[in-house]
Amino acid sequence: MSIYTIVLLFLFHSRKRKFYITTMVSLSFILCCVLVSSCAYATIVSHDGRAITIDGHRRVLLSGSIHYPRSTTEMWPDLIKKGKEGGLDAIETYVFWNAHEPTRRQYDFSGNLDLIRFLKTIQNEGMYGVLRIGPYVCAEWNYGGFPVWLHNMPGMEFRTTNTAFMNEMQNFTTMIVEMVKKEKLFASQGGPIILAQIENEYGNVIGSYGEAGKAYIQWCANMANSLDVGVPWIMCQQDDAPQPMLNTCNGYYCDNFSPNNPNTPKMWTENWTGWYKNWGGKDPHRTTEDVAFAVARFFQKEGTFQNYYMYHGGTNFDRTAGGPYITTTYDYDAPLDEFGNLNQPKYGHLKQLHDVLHAMEKTLTYGNISTVDFGNLVTATVYQTEERSSCFIGNVNETSDAKINFQGTFYDVPAWSVSILPDCKTETYNTAKINTQTSVMVKKANEAENEPSTLKWSWRPENIDSVLLKGKGESTMRQLFDQKVVSNDESDYLWYMTTVNLKEQDPVLGKNMSLRINSTAHVLHAFVNGQHIGNYRVENGKFHYVFEQDAKFNPGANVITLLSITVGLPNYGAFFENVPAGITGPVFIIGRNGDETIVKDLSTHKWSYKTGLSGFENQLFSSESPSTWSAPLGSEPVVVDLLGLGKGTAWINGNNIGRYWPAFLSDIDGDNTLVLFEEIGGNPSLVNFQTIGVGSVCANVYEKNVLELSCNGKPISAIKFASFGNPGGDCGSFEKGTCEASNNAAAILTQECVGKEKCSIDVSEDKFGAAECGALAKRLAVEAIC
Ligand code: GAL
Repeated sequence: MSIYTIVLLFLFHSRKRKFYITTMVSLSFILCCVLVSSCAYATIVSHDGRAITIDGHRRVLLSGSIHYPRSTTEMWPDLIKKGKEGGLDAIETYVFWNAHEPTRRQYDFSGNLDLIRFLKTIQNEGMYGVLRIGPYVCAEWNYGGFPVWLHNMPGMEFRTTNTAFMNEMQNFTTMIVEMVKKEKLFASQGGPIILAQIENEYGNVIGSYGEAGKAYIQWCANMANSLDVGVPWIMCQQDDAPQPMLNTCNGYYCDNFSPNNPNTPKMWTENWTGWYKNWGGKDPHRTTEDVAFAVARFFQKEGTFQNYYMYHGGTNFDRTAGGPYITTTYDYDAPLDEFGNLNQPKYGHLKQLHDVLHAMEKTLTYGNISTVDFGNLVTATVYQTEERSSCFIGNVNETSDAKINFQGTFYDVPAWSVSILPDCKTETYNTAKINTQTSVMVKKANEAENEPSTLKWSWRPENIDSVLLKGKGESTMRQLFDQKVVSNDESDYLWYMTTVNLKEQDPVLGKNMSLRINSTAHVLHAFVNGQHIGNYRVENGKFHYVFEQDAKFNPGANVITLLSITVGLPNYGAFFENVPAGITGPVFIIGRNGDETIVKDLSTHKWSYKTGLSGFENQLFSSESPSTWSAPLGSEPVVVDLLGLGKGTAWINGNNIGRYWPAFLSDIDGDNTLVLFEEIGGNPSLVNFQTIGVGSVCANVYEKNVLELSCNGKPISAIKFASFGNPGGDCGSFEKGTCEASNNAAAILTQECVGKEKCSIDVSEDKFGAAECGALAKRLAVEAIC
């Protein structure tokens, strides 16, 4: 401080004033650079009770989660660009430990695991990054991101003060931080990353770990701090986060969250835009209005940083899906769909909200705050600086619309909505009034030239004779073991085999015999003497069950062969790492003699184990022979519809695109090979490739807004419906209402939009003519065909 004062005094008395002022500016710049170590473009990210500050300015920050391994490297620039165009400042990603360190101390950052490339793509787009290292991430990712070898280390206990665990966690975290530092990717070094995260939602489970849990979270904080990243660290859902860790909120709504320290700004790391899907479950949906409501409400109530989880969910390729039973699609009903298309109206309605919030940045982050309570859960919040004031009117009543007089003007605020008035007078946005088009996505058959409508298939059965008839595997143990322990999670498939010698006079032998298996296998197939006696799939989440099936046993040697299949290891909850998977027993042969039941426990028999299937081992998926086809024309994403099939794994051009348990997608070009492993049986003749794109678009927009219609790069081919007045119905079934404008709306839209990739329409009486709708709010409803 004193240095500056002296220099200034000196300057003001200098005759060569101009020259010295320039010198002073560069001198202070150099001093700054020295202070933040890395110079040039270093950005100082800090925080105060109100907001994250960047180079001393409080910011309104909007961020979206895009996980790099859930898309292909080719998709990254487009996804990130769409995030920026959607009004985001930052992209958030987790770091996936088990993907990067599949074997202890052997690392993989290739292909879509190239974290540095992903971060640089964010940087090239001029956006900020939020790096959630975890390294426990949950994320519906296999085993929450923990490598299974970690579980199998001696004396290991996860997420507590266990030395072996802490060493491994520190080793991985340090390595990631060093990699990122080496590339100068932290904001303190001139890079894009403004925030880093350690652990993940530990506060939700800390109670189960007792005192050790508290000590562990303190250790996490110290360890992270010692890594000296130069940007703030966050801990989500951690209301005892030790300073200087910033605790943040995750959930569908975080307006009522308050951080544990008055100096921590109110931040929301996960606003769930939808949800993940389980096999057999429904496609989750969260309405656009509700997501927008939650965001606007958060900013009404002093929030300043908000991240969408997910902004683009993507795909759980290969065996990365968590579980059990989490699907390969991780679409999440996010603003960008699984394929990277705009999920409209969610994307557009939120983009408009982001623009409004950004325009109010200064008032929101520096303004004095006051609220007016109108009763019945309606409140107005005024943010006021000397130059300007901005207002929110929130109606948290779920059922009743409100009409209020605020500062002399009447406002209609629909139930469960927030209106934003950037100048406290004009409502420019209401979360429940969508003025963005709805895009209806359609899948179309592959239109590549000369492509036959069905694919040609060649078959090869899985060679299972040796396991079925001889019961011989790779290792033997006189115990039934957890699948994770035997296989290290190298495959979904583990064979458990044993041979039982039954003497002719063994009392268990007789009629009505059965095999009873206490199992935690996610899917089970059972064979006795080469015969498939049955299989089992879990219903209603009961992964601990008893499977019993009639079976025929003979005097002499009987081979029992059980195939245990995992469908994603658990990723959430206290001690989830110890949830058993596989055939943990006991296993019994049951005999019946009249009323008497004879039980033979096989649990301590000699069990033989074999991991994996021979087709996987022999890499059938990379062979030239199977079905090939030409890539569909155009640039729309390609999906493979596995109609008619049961359950298995699919590969495109040798890349494992994931488990199927019915339909799938990929990014493909040129001549392509599809390989399927089918484990239940099915008919591949219906399998086909399709492109996915916008089929039609609809809108239902209030007067005094501008409607943007777009077919995502394709021309709009026709206007099927248009009416300005009070049209009714929904997309696909719009109808004219009781009042309608004098001009022909369809003709106007046809002229302005048909043949164009997008068009912009002023929704007003000037454009469509007067409509006698009385007090009703006028709207334009349109359905256009792409
Ligand atoms: C959170 C977790 C995320 C993700 C989400 C649900 O609890 O932090 O990683 O699992 O739930 O999609």
